[in-house]
This record gives sequence, structure tokens and C-alpha cells, in this order.
Amino acid sequence: MDFDNNERIVSPDFNSADTETEISLRPKTLNDYIGQDKAKENLKIYIEAAKNRNENLDHVLLYGPPGLGKTTLAGIIANEMGVQIRVTSGPAIEKPGDLAALLTNLNDGDVLFIDEIHRLSRAVEEVLYPAMEDHALDIIIGKGPSARSIRLDLPRFTLVGATTRAGQLSAPLRDRFGVILRLELYTTEQLSQIVQRSAGILEISIDKNGADEIASRSRGTPRIANRLLKRARDFAEVMDNGVVTEENAKIALSRMEIDKLGLDNIDRLLLMTMIKNYNGGPVGLETIAATIGEESVTIEDVYEPFLLQLGFIAKTPRGRIVTPLGYKHMNIDMPGQQSLEL
Ligand code: ADE
Repeated sequence: MDFDNNERIVSPDFNSADTETEISLRPKTLNDYIGQDKAKENLKIYIEAAKNRNENLDHVLLYGPPGLGKTTLAGIIANEMGVQIRVTSGPAIEKPGDLAALLTNLNDGDVLFIDEIHRLSRAVEEVLYPAMEDHALDIIIGKGPSARSIRLDLPRFTLVGATTRAGQLSAPLRDRFGVILRLELYTTEQLSQIVQRSAGILEISIDKNGADEIASRSRGTPRIANRLLKRARDFAEVMDNGVVTEENAKIALSRMEIDKLGLDNIDRLLLMTMIKNYNGGPVGLETIAATIGEESVTIEDVYEPFLLQLGFIAKTPRGRIVTPLGYKHMNIDMPGQQSLEL
């Protein structure tokens, strides 16, 4: 079976339909940013301290599952520091020259945001090191014995890098970030606040229970919550009086085959495959990937964080296992544990 992850309504990945709304919904200041309290409070201090010293902010690495607001936070950092932001991504910077062009076009203090920074090539990373450390660009002129290197001064910029997993980053790159912030999945309460804030901006009528219902099925991810909000509005407008309520949100979500906890049929397929084909595990990531026809990185970055957070699967040294809670959610008796009371 083959699934395009971007087609999933519960995919945390950015898709083209998100563009317009996501940009209008992005908070511009730390005070408007809901959740990620630990990261936010520390960032507030670092920003204030840098501003008081008239310095630019140290380089910041943001890591965590997709859809949690890494790009939004980068925009907020630039806004709070009163500087411009340039947005790019690891795969978009193909050659060292591409990075050199970006860096030389920055103004003093600017934020350079590199999404998926773990996907930079080695050659590009080599250019980034002196740029981050000394605000300098080393250019090699010529080849062979007559080759020499000249050093160009760069503006003092702040690099904000984003990655789904800090462990994917090479150690020398990771070590050059002064601030490392981990973003976590949002609580239902925080997501409900985000849904209500977004509804206000998009002029969608929704009551508190409607927002809670959407929030509880958004797998900890604002991007998914905002997407489900828009679809729930469609159902509320066509099938009801236009106000998103708990009742019509429930209907909308079940029509989209999203269950009470936000799992869709791919999550359920993943759990079912582990249960039926591999007796609940332990089973290796690559084996699961091959069986359900997904890439192992997608499983690891997209599906697993939420299933792990719910406690439906667990990682063991011998592979992934389905937990008693996972069996219970799938309504299947766990082998040898039929009488286990959960
Ligand atoms: N929209 C998306 N993420 C958000 C957040 N963390 N706070 C407020 N609005 C958001």
C-alpha cells in the first residue's frame, strides 16, 4: 500500500492548501504565541538580553516534530529583534555558492532561517561553520598548488535552524548553536486556545466544546488543528447553522475517518500491521516501513512521536512493540494478557 503523507488530513507536513491560512494565522509576537512555555520563556530572556546589549541574538536551533511552529518562532524572533528574516531550507541550498549568495545579501542583525537544516550537504556545512563562528566567508580561489583562500567579512546575522531531530545534525554544526530549544507536542487545552484564536482571525463561529473536540483530535499539532477547523466549518455551514459545535465537529471528524484520539487510518494500519503481522512486536522500523509502504523516516518523524506520546507503542532495543494501551485502542486482546485490566 502506498500513501502520500501530504494527502492526509492529519499530516503535520505543510501542504499548499495551508499556505494562505497558515501565514495569516501565524502569531507575530511571543505574547501571542500559545504553548511551548519553556522554549518561549527562555527565548524571551535571550532576546531581551541581546537587545539590552545591542547585540544580535546567538544562533538558535529549534527541533521537534513537524507542524509545531518552528517557522513561526523564527519569524517571531526576527520580529521581536526588529530585523528582517530570510527563509530557506537545507535541500534548497545545493551548492556552497548558493549559501554564499544568501549570506552576502543579509543585513546586519538579520535572521537567516534554514528549515530542515539536517539536509545540508557537507560542502555547504563547511561554508556555514566560519560564517556562524566568525561571520566570515572563506573563498578558495584557483586550484591545485596555486589555490589560495580569501576571507570576506559577513554581516552579523543570527542563524535559526530547524530540524525534526537534533540527533540528525552533525556534531560540529550542532555545537555552533548557542541556543537549542526543543518544541513539544501541544496539550489539548493549548490546541483549543489556538483553534479559538484561529477561528477569530478566520471569522469562523465555534463554541468552546467544538474547539475542544477539534483540539483533542489534532495529535498535539497546531497545523493539524487549523486544518481540521477549516474542514469542520465546511460541515457546520452545509449541514448545520454554521456554528462549529461539539456535535457537528464529531460528525465532521468521523466523516474524515479521524478517531477520538486523532488517529487516522494510516495510524491504525500501522498498529494493526504490528499486531497482526508481527504479533505486536518487537519489530524493526525498516520492517514496518516495508510492510506498510512508507518511508522509515516518515514513520519515525510523523507517526511515531504521537503514537509514542499516547503510549500505544514503545521503543525497545529489539524494535517497536504495541503496548497494552495500543491493543486496547484497537479493540484487540493482547496475547497472554486477555485479563489485564487497563
Ligand atoms: N497558530 C499556530 N501555532 C500557534 C501558536 N503556537 N500560537 C498561536 N497561534 C498559533
